Amino acid sequence: MSTLKRSFYLLTLISVCLLSMQCKNEKKADTNIPVEEMKNPVTITKESFGTTKDSIPVDKYILKNEKGMEISIITYGGIITSWTAPDKNGTYKDIVLGFDSIQKYQLPGVPYFGALIGRFGNRIAKGKFTLDGTQYTLATNDGQNHLHGGVKGFDKVVWNAAETSTDSTASLVLTYLSKDMEEGYPGNLETKVTYTLNNDNQLNVLYEATTDKKTVINLTQHSYFNLSGDFSKPIVGEEITIHADTFLPVDATLIPTGEIKDVANTPFDFRQAKVIGKDINVQDEQLKRGLGYDHCWVLNNQNEGMRLAATAYDPESGRLLEVSTDEPAIQFYTGNFLDGTLPSKQGGTYGHRTGFCLETQHYPDSPNQRDFPSVVLSPGDKYMTKTSFKFSVK
Ligand code: BGC
Repeated sequence: MSTLKRSFYLLTLISVCLLSMQCKNEKKADTNIPVEEMKNPVTITKESFGTTKDSIPVDKYILKNEKGMEISIITYGGIITSWTAPDKNGTYKDIVLGFDSIQKYQLPGVPYFGALIGRFGNRIAKGKFTLDGTQYTLATNDGQNHLHGGVKGFDKVVWNAAETSTDSTASLVLTYLSKDMEEGYPGNLETKVTYTLNNDNQLNVLYEATTDKKTVINLTQHSYFNLSGDFSKPIVGEEITIHADTFLPVDATLIPTGEIKDVANTPFDFRQAKVIGKDINVQDEQLKRGLGYDHCWVLNNQNEGMRLAATAYDPESGRLLEVSTDEPAIQFYTGNFLDGTLPSKQGGTYGHRTGFCLETQHYPDSPNQRDFPSVVLSPGDKYMTKTSFKFSVK
């Protein structure tokens, strides 16, 4: 090899070495970026959502994670007004029923779309219950009216809001003081509901409350899901699993009779995934009373704390929803009373069975049924319960 060639080789070798060292250094520099900067935190932003009929300003908070899930929550009723989830192709669509304006949420007969429910979710027989010998009178559940906390329940009040976040979550903290005897319930109830979104497409809902007088409480979340993202399409083709061996049969006014019935060999057996429409129209006295499914399932493993309670799956889009809770029961309601009168966000109206609810809770009418788990909250005690909604695809 000539001296010239040798020097050329040497030079090339040195340059390659230098270059690779530089690359290594650059890579090293990359990994030196502080962890916080590499993460995409969940964001929370706020905008106005207009004012209520009583001129109270309402805000809308938008939680957004790194995957692209976006959840909008308004301070009126703590309502989830929209919630996007991916299908099997990664396309995000809104999967909860709701409205695009505060005026529509205040229309008469709005069936608690996306709202927080309280002080007592579901029904209390004849609007009466007794605590320590004192009888309390509430608004009576007349058909579909005045259930879920009375004439003006937690779904119709404006909550105070605050934001918090960590490296990988963002939370909206809603608080509301329900005054002593509001809607007939005893005790000033300090209520706090924290909605937390993480980067696993999971929304955690933490409910907390304290009281200064003995009272009853049963909070829940009343989102209507349609996993297809097409609100003109009934949900009867979607599949449900409920981890419950028993359910609560109801009387003609949808109040539990007190019986705890085995789901085996009934249309209420969802222990294995079942398409909602499979048995919904069979001849069955219970289905007739609810015009479909509108019942409370007694969840298994009540002493285990947080566990998977129910899943919902839309075979067409591939969207899968998993609901976990530490509550003892879940109301599964198939939108039987939706009758095409309310305007849809997507144009048109919300028709029969175009959304389903999975409301984690204690049993309806518990204050009047001694054998049901207690819903009494005493001064000095803390009410605390959790539910999570996790989306993925299958
Ligand atoms: C009830 C239904 C009711 C719906 C809207 C559900 O929790 O069980 O009977 O129609 O809420 O009010």
